[in-house]
Amino acid sequence: MQQTNTVKNQGNTMLSWDEYNTDDALDALTSKSKMPPPPPPAEKTESSAGAQPASAAAQPERVQETAPAAYTETQPAMPAAEPTAVAPMESIGEEEIADESLQARAEKALEQLDVTAGLEELDMGAARIQVDDKRIINCRADVNQLVPFKYDWAWQKYLDGCANHWMPQEVNMTADISLWKNPEGLTEDERRIVMRSLGYFSTADSLVANNLVLAAYRHITNPECRQYLLRQSFEEAIHTHAYQYCVESLGMDEGEVFNMYRELPSIAKKAAWSLKHTAALSDPTFKTGTPETDQELLRNLIGFYAVTEGVFFYCGFTQILSMGRRNKMTGVAEQFQYILRDESMHLNFGIDLINQIKLENPHLWSEQFQQEVAQMIVEGTQLEIEYARDSMPRGVLGMNAGMMEQYLHFIANRRLNQLGLKEQFPGAQNPFPWMSEIMDLRKEKNFFETRVIEYQTGGALSWE
Ligand SMILES: [Fe+2]
Ligand SMILES: [Fe+2]
Repeated sequence: MQQTNTVKNQGNTMLSWDEYNTDDALDALTSKSKMPPPPPPAEKTESSAGAQPASAAAQPERVQETAPAAYTETQPAMPAAEPTAVAPMESIGEEEIADESLQARAEKALEQLDVTAGLEELDMGAARIQVDDKRIINCRADVNQLVPFKYDWAWQKYLDGCANHWMPQEVNMTADISLWKNPEGLTEDERRIVMRSLGYFSTADSLVANNLVLAAYRHITNPECRQYLLRQSFEEAIHTHAYQYCVESLGMDEGEVFNMYRELPSIAKKAAWSLKHTAALSDPTFKTGTPETDQELLRNLIGFYAVTEGVFFYCGFTQILSMGRRNKMTGVAEQFQYILRDESMHLNFGIDLINQIKLENPHLWSEQFQQEVAQMIVEGTQLEIEYARDSMPRGVLGMNAGMMEQYLHFIANRRLNQLGLKEQFPGAQNPFPWMSEIMDLRKEKNFFETRVIEYQTGGALSWE
């Protein structure tokens, strides 16, 4: 469906890009005077499916305003019910079922219900869960009981993720649409970057989401971590939505963009590398519990958290955010900025998860396995460098493939460090310090001061 322009031009909701490149960026972000107006809601048009959720997002506020009025004395009394509409108390629940044999079968099935069947390996009447019973993998304690908490870091990240909720339709795409459609608006090299980025990301987040729900989730046997995985899965859906929203807003060829992951070699290789790490776990017969299968689970988590989300996203993010800093494609850049905020939390959760599994299962982290993990990160870095060369055949936006290679070496060192492994690119420097500033800013604070206010209450409702 071709979308008409669904947003009103009500000013830029994004912080000035120059602010990110100044030493007092944090001050700028915390200053009330810099707070932009709330982003415009998408304008509802008949042809726009995207407009619907934006109005739904405003719903909680309307409920808050109107709910108390229903209880005031000035409110007209409810009309009396028609006497014939109310059944006598004694006859309530005694309606006859149309099919008596169906009722008999239902009753019989309930009589035979085994109340222990849903409890996996737990016995009825088993001792209540103790915190020390909980483990990230191969846990025998009931996975359906969220509390008592053991891994506060996982629960906190779940809360932080919810508090950072956003939706793609809140971002104003007007300037991007006119720039993209103006033949003089962008250079060929800049267009190539936008196309490549949307080409890679439009399917990459689906690969991540599918890996979470179809492969990794059932093997993570801890409910607070699962709670975060569920939140992350929804965020991946929002990211895929955001890329689709950009593609549709700009009127791109959807078939071309969404098929790049199997048609364009530099993108296809990255997708294939990720998919390779889903394969073993998505086999329904796969079970953890042996050193070999537990290591396979670790390969999956490292392949997705440390490499796919921790390396493969960085060239595209840097290119698009650099474009935004130059006041080009600011709507797309704003979408990427919010996605990057989410992704850096996914990465941090993944690193904590992997390190906790290592701590609880030190035998898995053998010298040989460490070598293998280091190789995975180097492989991913090499694929991302190839992608950088393909997407930037010449210098563009104040960067080039050589600078990106240096940056990716710097990123790879960080990933190795975070997993307790030796850096493979000694002395690699960060040529894009502004990227660190964007990522290292306090996420919640930055977010709350730039987003619509009703989302702030998502994590901490007060009933007073
Ligand atoms: Fe994502
Ligand atoms: Fe992610």
